[in-house]
Amino acid sequence: MTDDVISDQHQPLVPNRTVWLDQFGDLDVIALSERPIPQAVDDEVLVRVAAASINPVDWKTAAGEFPPMSADALPFALGRDLSGRIEALGTRAHNMLSVGQRVFAFIDFDRGGQADYVVVKAVELVATPDEIDNATAAALPLAGMTAWQGLFDHGQLQAGQRVLIHGAAGGVGHLAAQLAVWKGATVFATAGSRDLDYVRSLGVERAIDYENERFEDHATDLDLVFDTQGGETQARSFGVLKRGGTLVSTLETDEEKGRELGIRTVPRWLAEPNAAQLGEIAALVAAGTVKVAVAETFGFDRVRDAYAFTKDEHPRGKVVLIMAENE
Ligand SMILES: NC(=O)c1ccc[n+]([C@@H]2O[C@H](COP(=O)([O-])OP(=O)(O)OC[C@H]3O[C@@H](n4cnc5c(N)ncnc54)[C@H](OP(=O)(O)O)[C@@H]3O)[C@@H](O)[C@H]2O)c1
Repeated sequence: MTDDVISDQHQPLVPNRTVWLDQFGDLDVIALSERPIPQAVDDEVLVRVAAASINPVDWKTAAGEFPPMSADALPFALGRDLSGRIEALGTRAHNMLSVGQRVFAFIDFDRGGQADYVVVKAVELVATPDEIDNATAAALPLAGMTAWQGLFDHGQLQAGQRVLIHGAAGGVGHLAAQLAVWKGATVFATAGSRDLDYVRSLGVERAIDYENERFEDHATDLDLVFDTQGGETQARSFGVLKRGGTLVSTLETDEEKGRELGIRTVPRWLAEPNAAQLGEIAALVAAGTVKVAVAETFGFDRVRDAYAFTKDEHPRGKVVLIMAENE
């Protein structure tokens, strides 16, 4: 055995079901494939996954839309978020973590979190607080990191500032709204009619019905717009910012328009794994300050139904795949 291969690793006698993309296409390309259980080496950790969430980037990847990928990158394992228990440790991961520990993570793009077993870098893992169940932990990472990094790293949101959050009942938006309220900002938030009461319950100053109201009539003189929509919504959002204000989008940003209007914009950015930040959000969730909305859970064998539900049914918050009950 080489030095960087773990010593206590074993191969459980169960299949490693994996959402494994062989080709780009509609949701019929989403299927479970049985793959070998990967080995954790060096600073890696093998996680037995209990739950994994679905993000828009998963179906965009499956469709070949985003991120730009050529067919050479296939086959490809989908999923960025997972929660579960540590099954085995690489030799350089032993100091930090222990077998059996409950953990969750926002994992690198190419690791594939929607599987029974996933190898993760030890530094990406966060211990799951006792107060947080596995479905909630799996729902949090990508959406939570996007909200945190968008508001605080890129948007530099401060207490007392005025911020508009678009799509505040969505996976990213519902966390962004709560984090902005926690920060002490005055928060305006857009959502569809059926989600307005929910968004009000997050503590925002004004929930704006994007289907029946113009946000420009209710939120002006803003320091920050956090845009999750792009297109026309983003274009109109420049007009509600103070001169010198900031527009942060999770999608492409019209930087030219920002320059013309004296609005700071941020070049296209992607949320990045950051275990320290994820730990901070987890503490807020454990304390009940931030509540993660899990709209629906699906058994792993219903993965395609789960993708279709996430894409077509406009769920509030997140949709989570359950690999193992009561883990
Ligand atoms: N840059 C990054 O790293 C990053 C990270 C995460 C996400 N993203 C991108 O950000 C976008 C949002 O992600 P998500 O996970 O929050 O998606 P999501 O869960 O689908 O949420 C989108 C929300 O937007 C709402 N919405 C639709 N039209 C709207 C409008 N005109 N005005 C205001 N809200 C509207 C939807 O409401 P209804 O239910 O009424 O339709 C829904 O609640 C996606 O395109 C995703 O790919 C980027």
